[in-house]
Amino acid sequence: MTSLARATIGAAFMAVLGSGPVQAQSIGDLTAGRMIATTLCVQCHRITGSDNDPNRTPPDFGAVANMRSFTELSMRVFLQTPHGQMPRYQFSQTELDDIVAYLSSLRQR
Ligand code: HEC
Repeated sequence: MTSLARATIGAAFMAVLGSGPVQAQSIGDLTAGRMIATTLCVQCHRITGSDNDPNRTPPDFGAVANMRSFTELSMRVFLQTPHGQMPRYQFSQTELDDIVAYLSSLRQR
C-alpha cells in the first residue's frame, strides 16, 4: 500500500468516527431550513443572520438566534403557535427540525 492510500483510508476512517457527535447535535437540515425561511419567513423577517437588531418588529433572525431565551425546544413550541400576522403554518416534524437547525446556525454567542 502506498503511503497516499494509507493516508486516504485513515482520513476516511476519521470522517466516519467524526460524524457521530455532529449528527447527534443537529438533527435538522439547515439548508432545507434556510429554504423555508427564504420562502415563507422572509416576507416579514430579515433572515440572513447578518441583520441582528433585537428592537425591530418582527425581530431579525440573527437577533432571535442570539436571544438568551433561545433554545431548540422554545423554537419548536413557538413555531407551532401562530404569531403576529404569520399564516397558520402546519410544519412537519422534519420541517421544524430544519428551521430550528437553520436558526441555531445563526447563533453567535
Ligand atoms: C406575516 C408576518 C410574519 C411571517 C410570515 C413570519 N413571522 Fe415571525 N414574527 C412576526 C412578528 C410580527 C413577530 C413579533 C411579534 C410576535 O412575537 O408575535 C415575529 C416573531 C418571531 C420570532 C420571535 C419569537 C420570540 O421569542 O420573540 C420568531 C422566532 C419567528 N417570528 C419565527 C418565524 C419563522 C421561522 C417564520 C417562517 C416560518 C416566521 N416567523 C414568519 C411576523 C411574521
